[in-house]
Amino acid sequence: MSGEKPPVEFCKGVNGLEKVVLREVRGSSAEVYLYGGHVTSWKNDHGEELLFLSTKAIFKPPKAIRGGIPICFPQFGSHGNLEQHGFARNRLWSIDSDPPPFPTVSSNKAFIDLIFKPSEDDLKLWPHSYEFRLRITLGPGGDLMLTSRIRNTDGKPFSFTFAYHTYFSVSDISEVRVEGLETLDYLDNLKAKERFTEQGDAITFESEVDKIYLGTPSKIAILDHEKKRTFVLRKDGLPDAVVWNPWEKKAKSMADFGDDEYKHMLCVEAAAIEKPVTLKPGEEWKGRLELSTVPSSYRSGQLDPQRVLQG
Ligand code: BG6
Repeated sequence: MSGEKPPVEFCKGVNGLEKVVLREVRGSSAEVYLYGGHVTSWKNDHGEELLFLSTKAIFKPPKAIRGGIPICFPQFGSHGNLEQHGFARNRLWSIDSDPPPFPTVSSNKAFIDLIFKPSEDDLKLWPHSYEFRLRITLGPGGDLMLTSRIRNTDGKPFSFTFAYHTYFSVSDISEVRVEGLETLDYLDNLKAKERFTEQGDAITFESEVDKIYLGTPSKIAILDHEKKRTFVLRKDGLPDAVVWNPWEKKAKSMADFGDDEYKHMLCVEAAAIEKPVTLKPGEEWKGRLELSTVPSSYRSGQLDPQRVLQG
């Protein structure tokens, strides 16, 4: 059909940075910056934005973009000697024109393959050679899938930690609950990474939170009561899940984040942190994240987790 936009379009984004737009025929879309291999937008077929992106986000190296899905690699947070969350999120990635095949063939048209290889300067910071391939796919139902493949191209083993630092857009953080992490152990970043066990029901929010949940299930749900929307996060190869909201005080201390924006975002980050991933020479690791939304039901004061956690 003439006038129909292509499933994959290359264009310029903020500050002339290279951007790839993925579109699915029913109307959903996603935007990916080569700077950071960073997904900055994911919209459903009504054009509603599902990811949070700060109005104060700085699209300029070396600052990582505040919002969307930054990639934390080769280090999550301050769990090592590198800069916070590693450097993959503030490096320029390239289009991978000839990626090695995936074991399952997909008929999706809206996808892009990116690649990140360390520069000479990166090797001075972290002396390991690798090829980091990232495929970002928009599925026919508007689902967003990210697959990372990291191959050790070095002569010696190395270990890394990793996270898809996903910022979800929520109507009001006070109305949101996370299902799937109850009763799990977590490391509390606000208490010197001390280990605790989560008590009680689903997780709700009334102050700053910065926790690394350990050994989490492959499926986690974020229920947004006001929007009647549930995000379902499915993951593979990523045992941990970080839950972060800076709340009021920390929000005010962040230059690239609006003072009140903490009310409208929640990070739930599929990650591998507690047990770093180790790759021998020639070995490859795969970490997969799949995001989708379903309408949530709300009856007699109780959200119905069964509907989202089954299937
Ligand atoms: C979270 C960390 O993943 O990212 C927090 O657990 C951190 O401790 C947050 O504050 C944001 O990090 P940054 O480097 O993007 O400001």
